[in-house]
Amino acid sequence: MGTGLILGIESSCDETAAAVVRRGSETLSNVVASQIATHAPYGGVVPELASREHLRNIVPVVRTALAEADISFHDLDAIAVTEGPGLAGALLVGITYAKSLAFALNKPLIAVNHLEGHIHAVLLEQAELSAGSGWPSLRLPALALVVSGGHTHLYLCRRHGESWHYKNVGRTLDDAAGEAFDKVAKLLGLGYPGGPWIDALAAHGDPKAVPFSFSQIKPKAHRKDVWHDDPARKFLFSFSGIKTAVLRYVQTHDMAASIEARRRSLAQIPEAGPTDALLLCDGETLGLIASFQRAVVDDLRRKTFQAAEAFDAASVLISGGVAANRELRVRFTAQAAERGLPIVFPSLALSTDNAAMVAAAAWPKLLEGEFAPAGLSAEPSLTLGR
Ligand code: KG4
Ligand code: ZN
Repeated sequence: MGTGLILGIESSCDETAAAVVRRGSETLSNVVASQIATHAPYGGVVPELASREHLRNIVPVVRTALAEADISFHDLDAIAVTEGPGLAGALLVGITYAKSLAFALNKPLIAVNHLEGHIHAVLLEQAELSAGSGWPSLRLPALALVVSGGHTHLYLCRRHGESWHYKNVGRTLDDAAGEAFDKVAKLLGLGYPGGPWIDALAAHGDPKAVPFSFSQIKPKAHRKDVWHDDPARKFLFSFSGIKTAVLRYVQTHDMAASIEARRRSLAQIPEAGPTDALLLCDGETLGLIASFQRAVVDDLRRKTFQAAEAFDAASVLISGGVAANRELRVRFTAQAAERGLPIVFPSLALSTDNAAMVAAAAWPKLLEGEFAPAGLSAEPSLTLGR
């Protein structure tokens, strides 16, 4: 197995990332080239532009990751790459590069599910914390909430020997939670991606100003995709309704003109951020933002802890871009303490997309000899677990 050095490559959405991780438990480098500036003018990721940016960035990003880890290509034991889910064209850039590299170096190639990667971001940091410090390892089974711009999933995570197993026990029927943050931010004339803007501005508003509610989602019998045979069917999320509710609020409260004024003012400020936006938001807008965030965080919290209880989870693990949200961390942590359940979050750098999580998730697969087939291709709709 050599020294257990894995190069991870991630290009599923709008970050080109490469990292070197030793034995799934020690990060030697973690380099992320963000494309936020490319996509910001469009208020969302433009797939065609994302592919081109990955192509431009992949070589320098990988070189930097090796240089920062102070190793050469020949020191690697394996190359790991995100297979899916994600944007097809974006995934193909990372996969093609990783395949060529593995072929040229005659090293094994490991395919990683992006969602499993998000879970391993937390496991990697837990391992780093526990190294030599007596830090307790995560209690299993763990109930994991993966919550990002593309996903809102609940998984029950177990380990058998070296390999990890996941049971998918919850998901969204429509928008992902992060997508709701991004769309509401756009609707209110704020920047992209919307999560960090809403996070910062919500702290200045009254979360009880607007009484948003999530109706109980009942699976329709005729919809096969709603798992009506599955005991986990009650852990279904839906975030498209709250986005429409925010839009209706904006319309009935005549907020369009002030939103347009804010959008124009922010466009004139170079590298505008939430602090600039705060000066352009009145109390009503801040109340709307705070109420939206509270409603989303509470819906995620309620269902995550209900699922933890239903499946007898011994701990709770949160990951994905929305795990960076401050109110989410505070309210989840409080509830976990109330229930006496250990809860773990990734550091902010490992919450959003990165390649250390890909290299970490690949380590058990290297131990098990689980290598990618020669015909590996992008799997834009790849799922995790049963
Ligand atoms: O995991 P990630 O980088 O990419 C995906 O796999 O989607 O997550 C990006 C998402 C975006 O929707 C972004 O708005 C959201 O995570 N996000 C946040 C925060 N930081 C990023 N949402 C709420 N609060 C934050 N602080
Ligand atoms: Zn992600």
